[in-house]
Amino acid sequence: MSADVAARAAELRRLLEHHGHRYYVLDSPEIEDHEYDGLFRELLELETAHQELQSPDSPTQRVGSAPLEAFTKARHRVPMLSLANAFSALEVEEFARRAGRGLGAVSGYVCELKIDGLAVSLLYEQGRLVRGATRGNGVEGEDVTAQLRTVRSIPVELRPPATGALPAVIEVRGECYLPKSAFARLNAELDDQGKSAYANPRSAAAGAVRQLDPRITARRGLQTFMYQLDPSDLAETQAGVLGALGELGFRVNPHHRRVDDVAGVLTYLDAWRARRHELDYDTDGVVIKVDDLAQQRELGSVSRSPRWAVAYKFPPEEVETTVLDIAVQVGRTGAATPVAQLEPVLVAGSVVRRCTLHNEDEVGRKDVRVGDVVLLHKAGDVIPEIVRVLVEKRQTDLAPWSMPAGCPSCGAALVREPEEAVRRCVNPLCPAQRRERLRHFASRAGVNIEGLGEAIIDQLVERGYVEDAADIYRVTREQLLTLDGFADRSAENLLAAIEARRRVPLGRLVNALGIRHVGEHTAMALAARFGTLEALEAASLEALLTTEGIGQVVAEAVERWFGAAQGRELLARLHAAGVEAVPDTGAGGGGGPGPWQGQTWVLTGSLENLTRQQAEDWIRALGGIPGSSVSRKTTAVVAGGAPGSKLEKAQRLGVRVLDEAAFLGELEAAGPQPEA
Ligand code: IVH
Repeated sequence: MSADVAARAAELRRLLEHHGHRYYVLDSPEIEDHEYDGLFRELLELETAHQELQSPDSPTQRVGSAPLEAFTKARHRVPMLSLANAFSALEVEEFARRAGRGLGAVSGYVCELKIDGLAVSLLYEQGRLVRGATRGNGVEGEDVTAQLRTVRSIPVELRPPATGALPAVIEVRGECYLPKSAFARLNAELDDQGKSAYANPRSAAAGAVRQLDPRITARRGLQTFMYQLDPSDLAETQAGVLGALGELGFRVNPHHRRVDDVAGVLTYLDAWRARRHELDYDTDGVVIKVDDLAQQRELGSVSRSPRWAVAYKFPPEEVETTVLDIAVQVGRTGAATPVAQLEPVLVAGSVVRRCTLHNEDEVGRKDVRVGDVVLLHKAGDVIPEIVRVLVEKRQTDLAPWSMPAGCPSCGAALVREPEEAVRRCVNPLCPAQRRERLRHFASRAGVNIEGLGEAIIDQLVERGYVEDAADIYRVTREQLLTLDGFADRSAENLLAAIEARRRVPLGRLVNALGIRHVGEHTAMALAARFGTLEALEAASLEALLTTEGIGQVVAEAVERWFGAAQGRELLARLHAAGVEAVPDTGAGGGGGPGPWQGQTWVLTGSLENLTRQQAEDWIRALGGIPGSSVSRKTTAVVAGGAPGSKLEKAQRLGVRVLDEAAFLGELEAAGPQPEA
């Protein structure tokens, strides 16, 4: 290879890097797309002709390297924290007061849009990208270097800063997201291929980053906004950090603003509450940060979130739509749920077509009728919910809705037991129940077979390949190849995913069985108490009743399930199919190995610094079990604000009681935080 060739390749890389930065980072290209493509092709040809020119840093590598076998873990140098939330101006003021109390006077704040994507960490050594990782549980994420290298706005090599030397090691954090336009394109494509669409841009972005094949990631069109820099030697304020990040070549959201005081913050919030839908990305709020980094350091962090920042969440949107129909959906336990079919409507960033009405009483209470115009929002910005009927818009002739007498799937009676709000289909062979049981079995909460989604299960059932969970493990390649959109590769992948779940943690398997009244929580408690499937099968009612958090109703349901022919047969068939329960690991399950193994912690009252979910996840991550009721077996009770009768009971039984601060102290002392 001549020196000329090497020089030309270097020149091409420099040019492509420059124009890529103009286009993907600054959104202001200097050349036409076809000119860029020409340079790109030229470099690609040189690299193909001269292998020695190839390098992972080359712009040509943005199309993605070879697929990985699996993701490896990436431990963060410094834990990736999350933020405390504020849901109102009042709570933002409260945050500012708290910060001010610690400091005397806050120097100022930076307001940034809270991008609804996934947090990523980028590690650079001597200016070169050496690792990209997801947040994971904050302590440890997944190594997605090959995937993030394909994201055009992530520099593989840093630009030299205008002032100061580049530290040898730099970590940059920020958000990776899918623009709304790319999201719409992707979903249309998935639709065409008969695949299920993503619910929102955030899950689509997470899906794109978590592709084992980086070439797929490359095609999805991910974008980034970065906002954190470590070490922060290059700046003294958050505003300075954002500036420095821009200089180093990162994409920084242009809508951030430095304000002097909380009044300025509130003005910013008001402006963006109204404007946020104009953007080509989802934002679910505003992150407010103390600007001065020295003040940030002084404030420090509590548990998993810094005291120097807060995430203000935009209030959920409310939109009008029409109820086209109220269908009845039968779940895996036979529960018949009325579901409103809606005129599709965009709310809080995604199109909503249906919305649960829970049960007939709820329909009655809200008096929802087919044809009604209703007000819809998303609870917690996620779950669509009918707020109320706009009665003033009702046509006079709409009939009140009532629950049908028979199951829409099999025609059997829908029976309502005394004390229960739901009606249930009483036919255990009901096709709808069967399908839902299978969906639940394979789902993330169940044995978690990657890629075995609802649409595929439906096809397997329709074609008669699968009747119960055990059949899943007997599905053949030939059968899969008859399904819509399946080819050699996808069939292999699914078979491998099924194979990988032949050995499942006991708690998962118990949850997957779909025993009435047994959710994730209870399944984990049963797994922790009995250790093996055989022991659980053989458990007496008394033994079940002495399990933490399990009362009469649940114990009876478990006993009934394992006693019934249907349950026994399924277990025998799973066993014959080679399915095996393995001991639970602490991760995600609780009751496993970890410093708190064998301990049960009960939460009561409201916590200030953690959500209940976070607290429970943390307890589980340490190997403990978050209990739901207090007994002599309870290790400790955490009493938050306005604690209930559990506190009294703990005191009566002499169970140890901690307040939130003490609890946080123990959590922190015991180990890392769980996955968000
Ligand atoms: S700062 C110490 N700034 O929101 C925490 N976060 O719950 C540093 N996010 O995990 C986070 N936009 O994924 C920060 N401008 C922004 C953000 C932002 C989105 C996400 C991030 C984080 C979560 C906080």
